[in-house]
Amino acid sequence: MPKPANLTFEQAAPAPQAGVTALQALRKGNIQPGMTVLINGAGGGVGTFAVQIAKALGAEVTGVCSSHSVELLTSLGADHVIDYTREDFTNTGHRYDVIIDLVANRSLTACRRALSARGILVLSSAEGGRWFGPIGRIIKAAAWSPFIAQRLATLVAVQAPEDLISLKELLETGQVTPVIGRRFRLSEASDALQHQGEGHSQGKNRDHPRAQRSRGNVKAVLQDTYGSPEVT
Ligand SMILES: NC(=O)c1ccc[n+]([C@@H]2O[C@H](COP(=O)([O-])OP(=O)(O)OC[C@H]3O[C@@H](n4cnc5c(N)ncnc54)[C@H](OP(=O)(O)O)[C@@H]3O)[C@@H](O)[C@H]2O)c1
Repeated sequence: MPKPANLTFEQAAPAPQAGVTALQALRKGNIQPGMTVLINGAGGGVGTFAVQIAKALGAEVTGVCSSHSVELLTSLGADHVIDYTREDFTNTGHRYDVIIDLVANRSLTACRRALSARGILVLSSAEGGRWFGPIGRIIKAAAWSPFIAQRLATLVAVQAPEDLISLKELLETGQVTPVIGRRFRLSEASDALQHQGEGHSQGKNRDHPRAQRSRGNVKAVLQDTYGSPEVT
């Protein structure tokens, strides 16, 4: 599969995994233009792709993230952003046609409360309960499904060439721009893994002088939020 011509190798690298996962999660949700979609964990690797792809599919998108990603998600096209440090998306009274859950920090019951009567919840997180990880949620979702009108779907992303082609088109037309978070040297690989494992892998390094600048476009917001040439 050729690299999208307009991307650097660094930008293209997350697409086959995070981008394809986002695309397949949205396909599980059967997204149609005008549908309302909430993405829990929208500030992360998969979430930032999901926000942009959902917008490209014509959905009205709500992203859930922490305070430091609010501006980023808005710049990526999210129609609404919920800062999870201030508001619980399962208690707002809003109901969504599709919820893509990349965090698994709220119970299935709570997620269903934020889902429309015939809505689809796509369980995409590898996280879950203390003992069984995501398996407990998957079993519970399968057990409930025959008895409820809502659909509780589980995603296991696979590498499908046709999805890579779809994603390549979205990238080359500029409808989707990969978000690069912190950069690490190879010698900092253990720091990178630890950072990823903390589950908040999008930039905490705002103290570099470049982070003080303010721009209106996506590229500038990414630089302001995440840019740190000293750790490139
Ligand atoms: N189903 C599949 O086949 C498949 C494939 C790939 C990945 N995954 C799973 O999908 C999940 C997301 O992957 P990723 O690569 O996007 O991870 P990531 O880059 O580490 O992003 C995780 C995001 O979750 C956010 N987050 C943490 N606590 C949150 C909360 N309480 N509410 C809302 N957002 C919260 C973090 O944002 P803040 O920093 O702002 O807190 C971070 O941006 C992981 O569990 C991964 O294992 C599944």
